Amino acid sequence: MNQPNQARERAQAPAHVHHARLIDWVARIAALTEAANVRWCDGSEAEYQDLCAQLVAAGTFKRLDPAKRPNSFLACSDPSDVARVEDRTFICSQERDDAGPTNNWTDPAEMRRVLQTGDDALFKGAMRGRTLYVIPFSMGPLGSNIAHIGVELSDSPYVAVNMKLMTRMGRAVLDLLGTDGDFVPCVHSVGAPLQPGQTDVPWPCNPTTKYIVHYPETQEIWSYGSGYGGNALLGKKCFALRIASTMGRDQGWLAEHMLILGVTNPQGRKFHVAAAFPSACGKTNFAMLIPPPALAGWKVTTIGDDIAWIKPGQDGRLYAINPEAGYFGVAPGTNAETNPNCMRSLERDVIFTNVALTDDGDVWWEGMGPAPQHLIDWQGRDWTPQLAAETGAKAAHPNARFTVAATNNPALDAAWDDAAGVPIDAFIFGGRRSTTVPLVTEARTWRDGVYMAATMGSETTAAAVGKQGVVRRDPFAMLPFCGYNMSDYFRHWLGIEHRLQSSGSSLPRIFCVNWFRKGADGKFIWPGYGDNARVLKWIVERVEGRADGEGHFFGISPRFSDIDWSGMDFDEARFAKIIDADADAWRDELVLHDELLNKLALRLPAEIRATRQAIEAALPT
Ligand code: OXD
Ligand code: MN
Repeated sequence: MNQPNQARERAQAPAHVHHARLIDWVARIAALTEAANVRWCDGSEAEYQDLCAQLVAAGTFKRLDPAKRPNSFLACSDPSDVARVEDRTFICSQERDDAGPTNNWTDPAEMRRVLQTGDDALFKGAMRGRTLYVIPFSMGPLGSNIAHIGVELSDSPYVAVNMKLMTRMGRAVLDLLGTDGDFVPCVHSVGAPLQPGQTDVPWPCNPTTKYIVHYPETQEIWSYGSGYGGNALLGKKCFALRIASTMGRDQGWLAEHMLILGVTNPQGRKFHVAAAFPSACGKTNFAMLIPPPALAGWKVTTIGDDIAWIKPGQDGRLYAINPEAGYFGVAPGTNAETNPNCMRSLERDVIFTNVALTDDGDVWWEGMGPAPQHLIDWQGRDWTPQLAAETGAKAAHPNARFTVAATNNPALDAAWDDAAGVPIDAFIFGGRRSTTVPLVTEARTWRDGVYMAATMGSETTAAAVGKQGVVRRDPFAMLPFCGYNMSDYFRHWLGIEHRLQSSGSSLPRIFCVNWFRKGADGKFIWPGYGDNARVLKWIVERVEGRADGEGHFFGISPRFSDIDWSGMDFDEARFAKIIDADADAWRDELVLHDELLNKLALRLPAEIRATRQAIEAALPT
């Protein structure tokens, strides 16, 4: 038997696969991991149903009541595997400084020893007793020149079915790859090999050892030990943000932690806005927002809810696609009031993870509505409202998620799958800040906007393992997702100005928002959700040159009279509390900015420091 045939046989490659490099790589990983079997995913509905049935039989999935939640499932994870593990996430560039001070770095040769080549390398034999799924996927519309292809090799059927909903996955991608197309190789193992005869657990993972590893120079991803979300669905944070951000740096485009939405005004003019918020700060809600009845002429449509890939088009404007094809959203807090479009998206064809199970075979989570008298919580234990009142026990994990195809969304934008992308008119950056940061501020210049985004802070949430509610700097909402030195990333953003201006196109405007200011009673002052449309309206009218505002020391914010209050009872005194930029608070804030800027000092662009000094100089005394 000649060499290629041996590889084809070891990879169990179907006859329609003609990509020698792909076959060879699959064969090598199957040999390294000692996978019992290889299954090439075709992305068909029949395959999805088959894998879901297999997951039900394995106890990973519970099928929900087909009348209440057709074609939907609940998975509950191991309690050790519930969120992204940022402290186990590594950027293994050749040079430590290319990863920068905000990333965990390990020398790539050393990491390869740990994962692949050392005597006890974790991937050696990692898939023993398991099937290796070959999952070809396109991030972005198939064939779009903004899109890129990846192939994930995973021993988790849960990953395979999630990837079917989250990406364009399957045979069509292999066809597009042809005999030698480029793809980003992604290797994933739950890190729980099975001994002969050993029975599997419903949620295999490695409770003690986890590695989420990126090699930016060779554009590879290796993930070990976790089956959860961004740790395991490698198209999402690992490829579409960490690896893609380095591709963007090298090739002159942007990979961002941003939702994309269409905003159509009553005159029928449509704008496109891309907005960055840290994890679990309401990106999905904002992306699916329904304007209040009094703003009925306004329409908001969703292009993406989490990630944007943005490239300069022929005309010099920035065009964005959503590289994903589904939503992996946080369930707790989602309800018919906060996000009716999302609730409608979740009526059928959903994979829920770590929410609670009702006695009649449906799901429930905190903030969904009145609690039933009895539930099975995400850890399989009895839960009652009384128990919750006594002990604070949560029925759903705070980072419980839903996975659902974008096509379920009633507010899906007609251009969501357009290969050309949509032209961006404005960028919005927002954090979760109970004090200091005004409801909305427009940056006077691109450079000021980059500074605002670079120094953005946010109170931490359950989306990542770690303490919650502490303010951390989260530049561009990319702190956990930038695959290279954050200072170089700022420089890349600053450089966009020159790139676009030299093509003669106008730059998108940059705004910074904060929906989360709290009053002395600890309650949110701004109602948020649908009423954020009022802020969006001000933003697009600024873009059109139609709305007024008032300049202050770091930008332009609306006065009370600049916001459309129709149908809303919100008085000027309350507005003053959320729009206020207090000079003393900002003096303290600039000191906090300095902590980040000092950390990033080595390669920090001079423009960033200069902007900081200019804000300080403009502070009223
Ligand atoms: C996400 C996250 O899952 O940002 O989108 O954590
Ligand atoms: Mn996200």
